[in-house]
Amino acid sequence: MEICLTSPLDMHLHLRDTTMLRLAAPLSSDFAGAVVMPNLVPPLTNAADMLAYAQRIREATPAGVNFDPLMTLFFTAMNEQELAAAQEAPGFFGLKLYPAGITTNSEGGVSNLADAHRTLSIMEERAIPLLVHGESHGFVMDREEEFLGIYRQLATKYPKLRISMEHITTAAALQLLDEFENLCATVTLQHLIITLDDIAGGMLQPHLFCKPIAKRPADRDALLQAALNAHPRLMFGSDSAPHPRCKKESCGCAAGCFTSPLSLPKLAELFATHGKLDNLQAFVCDNACNIHGLTPSSKRVILHDQPMQVPSSYRSYGETVVPMFAGEQLPWSVKSIRES
Ligand code: NCD
Ligand code: ZN
Repeated sequence: MEICLTSPLDMHLHLRDTTMLRLAAPLSSDFAGAVVMPNLVPPLTNAADMLAYAQRIREATPAGVNFDPLMTLFFTAMNEQELAAAQEAPGFFGLKLYPAGITTNSEGGVSNLADAHRTLSIMEERAIPLLVHGESHGFVMDREEEFLGIYRQLATKYPKLRISMEHITTAAALQLLDEFENLCATVTLQHLIITLDDIAGGMLQPHLFCKPIAKRPADRDALLQAALNAHPRLMFGSDSAPHPRCKKESCGCAAGCFTSPLSLPKLAELFATHGKLDNLQAFVCDNACNIHGLTPSSKRVILHDQPMQVPSSYRSYGETVVPMFAGEQLPWSVKSIRES
């Protein structure tokens, strides 16, 4: 069995910088493009820094490989002029809003949503998408559901603002998605597969620890059904987030799963197992193109049901990163990629 995907997109990706960028970019560029997160140290908050980062991404991408970095800025109270400059920058995609301190490198995020009003209004006028890390500071299992009220407020107050609920992990978030036309959402690979049990139910699995934390079986099952049925406002966003091995296998494990090199094979396996391979193109590309009006670079990725051996770690430029499914054999793999 095989499937040919046209221009798959990863709508939520962490590529980092310097040596980690050089490791991650070649392992992420089976996709035709990706929405690249701005939570660098310090975060990307202006168009000039964003353009320089996009250039570093291009330099880290192998020659001859089509990979469009769709760039985001870390949400701050930007004014009209700053937003205009961002929008004029080639490759600009949108602003990513983090509640202050909610995840890796988000200390400079938003503490009081009222302070964001002016910027959100301008974004609405200018049709700039808002991407949101939607978690409260409450009990870890309730953080996403507690944040849904804020999504509701935003969707109501800014009816023309396109709001992407990033990396949703609950059935409740899916329900909200269906209530508001101006909401869309991304979902990761891991949240279609694992629950909290896989992370903490037996021996602690640091490489499965990410934020938001994976939830209950009913949540995972609802997300999987929505993805398999190609819910038109749900898009694949890996949230692949490489951390050095020593930061994961440590006392105080950093949040983030590294999935880029295996996400397409694993998605093909999931969709094939459920007899839904025909819906994979919508999930990994067409929905995003319809929602955001994207025209990705052309690329054809053929996946087939031949095994892929996932390495125990990826090492280059002095960095070592352990992927999800490290050391395992996956039943599907990339057969070929045509960059045209
Ligand atoms: C991400 C990271 O490491 O940058 N971590 C994660 O657990 N997903 C940040 C984020 O998207 O929350
Ligand atoms: Zn992320």
